[in-house]
Amino acid sequence: MKALVLSGGKGTRLRPITYTSAKQLVPVANKPVLFRVIDAICEAGIDDIGIVIGDTGNEIRKAVGDGRRWNARVTYIPQDQPLGLAHAVKISRDFLEDERFVMFLGDNCIQGGITPLVRQFTQGAANAQIVLKQVLDPRQFGVAELSEQGQVVRLVEKPREPQSDLALVGIYLFDAHIWAAVESIRPSFRGELEITDAIQWLIDHGYRVDPYLHDGWWIDTGKKDDMLEANRLVLEELEPAILGYVDRDSQVTGRVVIERGAEVINSTLRGPAIIGENTRIINSYVGPFTSIYHNCLVEDSEIEHSIILEHSRVRDLPHRLEESLVGRNVEIGRSALKPRAYRLMLGDNSSVGVL
Ligand code: G1P
Repeated sequence: MKALVLSGGKGTRLRPITYTSAKQLVPVANKPVLFRVIDAICEAGIDDIGIVIGDTGNEIRKAVGDGRRWNARVTYIPQDQPLGLAHAVKISRDFLEDERFVMFLGDNCIQGGITPLVRQFTQGAANAQIVLKQVLDPRQFGVAELSEQGQVVRLVEKPREPQSDLALVGIYLFDAHIWAAVESIRPSFRGELEITDAIQWLIDHGYRVDPYLHDGWWIDTGKKDDMLEANRLVLEELEPAILGYVDRDSQVTGRVVIERGAEVINSTLRGPAIIGENTRIINSYVGPFTSIYHNCLVEDSEIEHSIILEHSRVRDLPHRLEESLVGRNVEIGRSALKPRAYRLMLGDNSSVGVL
């Protein structure tokens, strides 16, 4: 069995972070979402992985490399334009050949991995299997309708009036019949070859498509609040570990990971939280659901429920920083310059809330 990870797209809803970085590489609990996807694939025993890349391909290649870190083999498949998930499958034929494969969207974060699902598909007789999850607002997803016997009968992409609350999680399993399906469908209303339509084609042509109801959490990490929510959920499952240095004047409580080379000086850390490699926390408070990535500095400040990316510095804040996603190499701090004023240099599409 092979795996196909989709890691293209522009990540418009995560701008300005995604002007300079691929959305799949934004870390959740200090590990890029894409790495979590690759972890889940490898845990399921699959080590031959194709990654479809777009505009941010170079960055993805640099971060993932040849897959050695996972003892896996990674093949990159460039997609010139984001023409849809089924298009991504279509251009991956040379890599996938006629093997069964799991397709995993590289910005999806799922609890518990995919091992049981892969096992079920390998042992069963279905031609495709789709992962479904009950959601409150299915309109932003592909939606599946099941028969009374629990078979998938209809799939609709982003329905205005959903007929069920079962969303398609971005994880799919296929056998070689998918090739006829992706060759037969036409672009949708949004001009894309939809994987949803390809699966509907399989159903309409008498192939067996099984549902797999996922009962853990699932987050499609497209927006800031989704990132923070995924961060919160992953942090809650963290194994505490102190690999860095904590001085005697600091207090660390709850699930906290302090990575190698990190230093905590005269500070209070209340988990779940993670402090990245070589990051320094000085005279500060880091509260629950906070991930501070590598090589950062937090001094004389309070942070809670936030994600801070690498090489950023937060200093001398008069109020607590909350529910924030801070990019790389960002400086946030109080200025002694007169007149007293906000002095900002923000990327396009930034958003700042002040007191
Ligand atoms: C895609 C699929 C949709 C699925 C979603 C899951 O949507 O088309 O069926 O529910 O991923 O993340 P997109 O993210 O392309 O809007």
